[in-house]
Parts: sequence; C-alpha cells; structure tokens
Amino acid sequence: MSNKFYVTTPIYYVNDKPHIGHAYTTVMADVYARFYRERLGKNEVFFLTGTDEHGTKVAQSAAKNSIDPQEFTDKISAQYKDVWQKLDISYDEFFRTTDPRHKIIVQEFLQKLYNKGLIYKSLYEGVYCVGCEKFLSFDEISNGVCILHPNLTPVEQKEENYFFKFKELSSKVFSELQKNRYSIIPEERKNEIIGKIKHGIEDISISRLGVSWGIELPWDRKHTVYVWVDALINYYSATQMYPGRKDFWPPTLHLMAKDILWFHALVWEGLLLANDLALPKAVFAHGFFTVEGQKMSKSLGNVIDPLDLIAEYGKEGARYLLITSFQFGKDGDISLDRFREKYNSDLANGIGNLVSRIAKIAEKLEHNPVNVEKTLLVKDEKIADFFTLNKPDEALRYVWSKIAILDQKMAQDKPWEIKSIEELEKTLKVYIEGLIIIGAQLKPFLPETSARILDIFTKDKIFKPDPLFLRK
Ligand code: MSP
Repeated sequence: MSNKFYVTTPIYYVNDKPHIGHAYTTVMADVYARFYRERLGKNEVFFLTGTDEHGTKVAQSAAKNSIDPQEFTDKISAQYKDVWQKLDISYDEFFRTTDPRHKIIVQEFLQKLYNKGLIYKSLYEGVYCVGCEKFLSFDEISNGVCILHPNLTPVEQKEENYFFKFKELSSKVFSELQKNRYSIIPEERKNEIIGKIKHGIEDISISRLGVSWGIELPWDRKHTVYVWVDALINYYSATQMYPGRKDFWPPTLHLMAKDILWFHALVWEGLLLANDLALPKAVFAHGFFTVEGQKMSKSLGNVIDPLDLIAEYGKEGARYLLITSFQFGKDGDISLDRFREKYNSDLANGIGNLVSRIAKIAEKLEHNPVNVEKTLLVKDEKIADFFTLNKPDEALRYVWSKIAILDQKMAQDKPWEIKSIEELEKTLKVYIEGLIIIGAQLKPFLPETSARILDIFTKDKIFKPDPLFLRK
C-alpha cells in the first residue's frame, strides 16, 4: 500500500482577494500536510493549493477594474500567495489554471473523452449563475434568484454547448461509492449526495460558447472549457507536470466546504472514471461559517480579511482561532469578540502563561532535570487517531486539555512556594516533560509556538522567555 499522502484545497476564484473562509480550509489542509510529513516523511506528502483563474466571474471582475484578465489574475493570485505565506502555509505547489502546462493537460484530457464518444454537442437552455459559475437547477432558485447569490441576477441562456455523458457514467460512479472505492465524508454529506443522485442525473455541459477567457476545446476552438471542468483537472495536472509527482496520483484527501461538494464528490469522479483514472480516496466537506449569524458578504460589510486577523493576533494566533473556530465538518458561527476572548483565555492566559510561569520557576535550577531525548520519543497515538477520523481540530483540543491538566496541577502543587532545590527539581520535571510533549504535538498546528516551546524546555538551562502571546 502506498504511503503517500496527497491533500488538496479548492483552487480559489481570483475575482476578489482572499477572506477567512478561504484561509480556514487552507489552514486545515496545512495542518494535515504538516502532520503527515512528520509521520510519513517529508517526501511522502504533497500539498496542493492554488487559484481558479478562468471563466465569466473572473473576466467580469477584471473588466470592472479595467484590467486585462491575465494582469488581474496575476495580481489577485499574488495576494493569495502573500496571505498563505503570512499564515505559514506549507504548500508544495501553488497551482494556477492559467499555467500553459495545465492547458495542454486539460485539452488532452477532454480530447480523450471526445475520442471515446463520451462528449456530444447540443443546445443548452437554462439559467446561469455567474457567482456559482454554473447552470442552476430548479431547487437552487428561489424567487427568481440563486439561493447562494441573491444579489446577482441569474442570466437566461440558450447556447450550443458540448456535453459530457455524465448520466451514463453516474451509475458507475455510484457503484464505486457504494463499494467504498472512494468516500464522501462526513456521512451526512454523503447522504445528501446520494439523495441528489437518486433524484436524477443529467448530462453536464463541459464547454461555453461566449466565454473567451478560458481554455479552447481542441476540436472546436470557438468553445472554451467550462470553468469547473478546467478547475477540477488542476488536481490531476499538478501531479503530471513534473515527473517526480506522478506517484502522488490519486489524491488522498480533497478538502473543501459543502458548497462545492457536488462537483468534487460526483462530477469529478465521473470525469476520472471516463478517462480510466484512479479515484481520490476521500472527499471531505467541512461546513460553512457565518459571521455573527450572517452570511459573510461584501454587501453586508462583514467580510473578515485574514490579514486583519494576522495583524491583530499574529500568524499563530490567527491559525489557532481558525482551527478551533468551529467543529470541523459542521456549520458554525464566528465572531470577532469571541476571537478576542479565545485568544486571551487559550493563548495569552493559557499556554503563554503556563510556559512563562514554569520557565520562570525553572530558572532557579542549575540544569534541566528532564531526559529530553527520551521525552521527545513519547508517542501518543490518540493524535494520529484523530487525524484518521478527520478530526484535526479535536486533536488540537486534546493537546489543549493537557495544558488545562498542568494548570490545575500547578494550582495544587504551588511550585513557586517550594524552597528545597531537590524537591523543586522533582516537581518541575513533570511540567517540563509535559511541556516538551505539548510543544512537539503542537507542531502541525502552531509550528512557531511549537519551536519556541521546544527551544525553551529542551535546553540544558531553562530561562524565562518573552511572552509567547501578548494579552489583547
Ligand atoms: N473556484 C472554485 C473551486 C474550484 S476547486 C476545483 C470555488 N472557489 S471559491 O473561491 O468560491 O472557494 C470556495 C471555498 O472557499 C469553499 O469550498 C471553502 O473551502 C472556502 N470558503 C469560502 N467561504 C467559506 C465560509 N464562509 N465557510 C467555510 N468555508 C468557506 O468555489
């Protein structure tokens, strides 16, 4: 069995700068990548993220800004990269769908389907939502507008499109799903997808006629590839563009929110099966969060910029707040007030305070009383189990419970009152060991904090550090 771990985030539209919804998924993917690099080895992990740069939505935003679409996508794509760097996102590849190497792969991919007779031309009549970049089905429309994008007017369209024989393929996909050849997680989302399949599947349009900002169909250059098909293929292209990456196919885990699960959990598998390619092992959809009970939207003015979060709480603070903001997989709500409370209670007064207090008392000791090498070897399979169950946020909460235990113990032991050095050494040993373990276990989540804690407590002489997190 392959030991490789290939994790992806969605590639984000470059119609606007990143917000914390994008940051959330990307930080979670980073946590997985960092965890499995430790566990399986650096070369066994491939972490892919990037930007989705073609289509009407992006072209319209570029036009609104009076910039050429390529220049516009270059600009926004660079903003994504900048935020990811500021959040310490350790991606192995930042994919851009305007990469010319991707264009060739997409064209080959579709040409194969065309040659197999799985693509045909027909007239499409429907209502298109530029926000979703898709034709809407009747249950996605309410009062004449798209449920997800009520501020945009859906466009009635009647155009010639090429279609993929998805209906024909869908029973094969469904049977693969039922045989657990790939999984859709969490279970309730899988059930939603199954419900939708049972409702009936239509063939899907894979090209657009009036959209010039895209990849041309190789056999009919008047058409460009439908942006979702172009985007999904990024996961494959990224492994094919470099010889050393081919072994990473198929993906271990596609991460995204529930808004785009349908494309990832069914359409994508249909396209792959049609091209005789192996299916991803798991598709995980986390929930959507609202901000103080409301959908995050420009018109409401409640969009949170990850750069503001980083400016206020630092990159480690921002990572912590995002990871623990709500249960991974469920929907949730966030608020700036709760972020502040949580930062103060868990980081400044929690881990930060514990580290400074113990380090300050330990300054009294000549030498670190702990056998550091041995402590670093301590294994805790509970963390790995949380990752296997796709509960990385629970793994972090579990590490935090150890902080709480040490805090409680300290209130009982009162080490600051101990006068005898031998006794102090004996008492502090437990705390220092605990903090080394906590430090090591924080590595995938808070890499810098982890390094700082380990640096303090694995030295032969312990000194009180500057505060890890300043109170806000
Ligand atoms: N370009 C497509 C994806 C193509 S992937 C082959 C796209 N882009 S997007 O910019 O709209 O990003 C959607 C994703 O952003 C969600 O699936 C999720 O990962 C993240 N989120 C955006 N808003 C979010 C919330 N409010 N809550 C949680 N995740 C959020 O769709």
